[in-house]
Amino acid sequence: MCGIVAYIGNKNCRDILINGLKRLEYRGYDSAGIGILAPKTAPKSSDPGYEIKVIKEAGKIKDLEKLLSDMDFDGTVGIGHTRWATHGVPNRANAHPHFDCHGEIAVVHNGIIENYAEIKEELVKKGHKFISDTDTEVLPHLIEEYLKSEADGKLLIAMQRLLKKIRGSGAIVALSLKHPDEIVAGRIASPLIVGVSKEGNFFASDMPAVLEHTHHFVIINDYETVRITRDDIQIYDLEGIIIQRDPFRVNWTLESAEKSGYEDFMLKEMFEQPYGIRETMRGRITDGVFHFEEINLSEEQIRNLKKIQIIACGTSYHAALTGKLIIEKWAGIPVEVDISSEYRYRDPIVDRDCLFIAITQSGETIDTLAAIREARKKGAKVMAVTNVVGSTIARESDSVIYTHAGPEIGVCATKTFTAQVIVMYMIGLFLARIKGTVDETVYEKIIEELEIIPNKVQQILNNAGHIKKIADETYRHTCFLFLGRIYGFPMSLEGALKLKEISYIHAEGYAAGEMKHGPIALTDTRTIVVGVIPQDFVYEKMLSNLQEVKARNAKIFALITEGDKNTAKYADYVFEIPKTREELYGILAVVPLQLYAYYIAKNLSRNVDQPRNLAKSVTVE
Ligand code: F6R
Repeated sequence: MCGIVAYIGNKNCRDILINGLKRLEYRGYDSAGIGILAPKTAPKSSDPGYEIKVIKEAGKIKDLEKLLSDMDFDGTVGIGHTRWATHGVPNRANAHPHFDCHGEIAVVHNGIIENYAEIKEELVKKGHKFISDTDTEVLPHLIEEYLKSEADGKLLIAMQRLLKKIRGSGAIVALSLKHPDEIVAGRIASPLIVGVSKEGNFFASDMPAVLEHTHHFVIINDYETVRITRDDIQIYDLEGIIIQRDPFRVNWTLESAEKSGYEDFMLKEMFEQPYGIRETMRGRITDGVFHFEEINLSEEQIRNLKKIQIIACGTSYHAALTGKLIIEKWAGIPVEVDISSEYRYRDPIVDRDCLFIAITQSGETIDTLAAIREARKKGAKVMAVTNVVGSTIARESDSVIYTHAGPEIGVCATKTFTAQVIVMYMIGLFLARIKGTVDETVYEKIIEELEIIPNKVQQILNNAGHIKKIADETYRHTCFLFLGRIYGFPMSLEGALKLKEISYIHAEGYAAGEMKHGPIALTDTRTIVVGVIPQDFVYEKMLSNLQEVKARNAKIFALITEGDKNTAKYADYVFEIPKTREELYGILAVVPLQLYAYYIAKNLSRNVDQPRNLAKSVTVE
């Protein structure tokens, strides 16, 4: 949500900023802008000798590029931004950078300033004039005020004052005409990293933005301010005390953040799932036994666990629901699952003998972050499951299990989801072994099956053409109901979420047993019912549910176990899922559901990588 790139060095920054912003497009945005410090051709003696050139536009970065194509827009210091509108519509005036009264200070910002209205009122009284509807615009004006007074002309001190003044969240980056050899930034609750290279230094919201220039990064924490120059970075707390922090290296390659010949990131990422699942398991099974050093609990603590609490949002919440089913079944430990945004405000009872798990692919979701802070304040030990090393939630948790799905650029979570689900299976089994709740031979069989799950996912992907055909025939329907029971239920929620996110068609996911309590009223010839119906212990119940909707003229698309001729008799379309243990069907069922949503959206010419109104990391409430 919003993206920031900034550069100071010895290269021309125009392409660095534009390409960096393109790599952040996946975060979701609706306008963009860049500002650079350019030497004036004929400065007057009283001039700083520079001007800030700025270009902004509503819409996509390619619209910005069109405007730039015949402009002189060169310089070696600059800031860029993609905006996801919160205050004010997406238009040129509201796009970032924003300026102070004299056009001398340019600011880009990711987050929300909750007390901006009162700050604006104070500034207006002092004579400041505003030209946008944004909360961000108060920031350059505040810096202007601080530079005149308390900050004694020092940009970094002005940033420290500013962070003390604002409430809310923000990664804030500022450039000033009078400080041409530095860019400064500060952070409260929104992701901000520094990229370090021999040819200059960078600020960015996320690593892929500058991966083509450096693999060395420093993470900035809340209430820290940073000054970058061409050859140095300095981090300070709000009192001006210097903080030492060495850069670390990431192994992600540029290709892993590119499409590699696929039409979209989403398609590429769905096809990377066998790899993501395998990588997530790699090194965690030795001699047929799970090792999970990350679960920071002794065997005795695990045997005494009274409860597990899992929190998450969106797709990660569906992984959490799978976690509940698996852990309760295998390890016999009660699991409570909450949506993070509900958990954080419902005054939860936090039990110190409880294991608290936060699932988040991005590691930055604001509601999940707030929920873990709340839980830790009340004494809980938090374990994060995330895909992003060094993300805020990873750093603020007591322990972290990383999924190793690789960078996920498409806004839709696909490969990070199956990696989360495999982690849920692994946690369930790990706890079960210590508690002795699963028989040794069953344990071995489950591990054997888990090890071949990536091959079965591959088998499904090899059949993607069949799903495409079903999508081609059904995409004109206007109502989709996804039904499942037990292990299929979280996947029907996920199938419906995927479809609505990228196709904008109304879709509902339901526990099939709930049909008669309302949704069956929706079924008629316009409805497609997508049934997840593996041959498990609730197979016959699911079959009855599908017959009921069939009798009401809905069309049925059934995900069946291979060889299930019986269901095929009732369904209009079927897709066969390879056989597996019934607890593991979910991870196989979700893959055709992802593909189905994808091909429907493509039929409707939707932008699957950047669906409207959505963002990859939801860093505002
Ligand atoms: C759906 C999707 C979102 C995220 C949700 C939580 O495809 O991506 O529903 O799952 O915003 O994000 P994380 O997992 O980063 O906390």
